[in-house]
Amino acid sequence: MTILVTGATGTVGRHLVTALLAAGHRVRALTRHPATADLPDDVEVVRGDTTDVDSLAAAFTGATAAHLINFGHGYRPLDNGDQVAAAAVRAGVRRVTLLGGWAEGTLEPAVRSSDLEWTHLRPLEFMANTLADWGPPLRADGVIREPHGDRRSACVHEADIAAVAATALTTDGHAGQTYTLTGPEAVTPRDKVRHLAHATGRDLRFEELTPQQARELWTADPPSLQIYRVAPGGPAEKADFVLRLYADTPEAGRTVTDAVQRVTGRPARTFATWAAEHADAFRP
Ligand SMILES: NC(=O)c1ccc[n+]([C@@H]2O[C@H](COP(=O)([O-])OP(=O)(O)OC[C@H]3O[C@@H](n4cnc5c(N)ncnc54)[C@H](OP(=O)(O)O)[C@@H]3O)[C@@H](O)[C@H]2O)c1
Repeated sequence: MTILVTGATGTVGRHLVTALLAAGHRVRALTRHPATADLPDDVEVVRGDTTDVDSLAAAFTGATAAHLINFGHGYRPLDNGDQVAAAAVRAGVRRVTLLGGWAEGTLEPAVRSSDLEWTHLRPLEFMANTLADWGPPLRADGVIREPHGDRRSACVHEADIAAVAATALTTDGHAGQTYTLTGPEAVTPRDKVRHLAHATGRDLRFEELTPQQARELWTADPPSLQIYRVAPGGPAEKADFVLRLYADTPEAGRTVTDAVQRVTGRPARTFATWAAEHADAFRP
């Protein structure tokens, strides 16, 4: 059984490749840049682009299952979903996992209405966002300056997203399921700083900003916040979007589900675990 992984060089994809290899599966990885993909030797690396259906059709050939990202360049939702789903079916792919994002494009409905056995993964905020969001300030002076320090997020460990994908791709019983993937608890920024302080042995602090202070900071110097990648508009609109989200996180964003445990049979990883694994990234 060869399993195609798109987004294989990404945050979730690398964990998925590792999980599938560890379980003894043949893995084919799609990337736009094979020369720099830096994937394990056992992986068959193929060049391809989600916006180029011909390259995907070639990559699907001989694969029985595939993990699909739903975006192309700049995280724009794909507009060629019908063609992608049709190419997968034509090539003999039987089962797919779909990694969902903020916005649905054409891929999700096309896959759901196809003959493919699909499983839709809808993760909440990735714990990994903390690397890019908080790595620079914590390495610099050990202080996180943000508004709404008590907002809660049921953020999920990216390895758990991959573990669910690996299970859904390789075992029965997941067709037609949509899994909302969360961590085992809803944590606040203050909690996260505390876990990172413990993991690094450093005196890290959270400093609460007023929304106005945050807006000034973010519009003057747009932060590396991962959410900025998908927030609409220019710096001012992005800052306002993030402020609205932080002020009033939708209930779904702070509601823990048992999907990781149910699908993988293992408890979802905690943020404390994630922090211990990544402590070095938060040291000067
Ligand atoms: N971050 C979050 O908090 C969060 C929360 C919920 C959902 N999500 C969703 O998760 C997804 C992002 O996953 P991720 O963080 O694992 O990705 P990522 O680390 O940002 O990596 C992007 C991956 O996509 C590949 N890629 C980008 N454009 C491509 C194209 N045109 N053709 C082929 N491959 C392309 C890249 O491969 P190459 O560069 O090697 O070609 C790379 O492997 C998005 O759908 C996002 O909406 C994220």
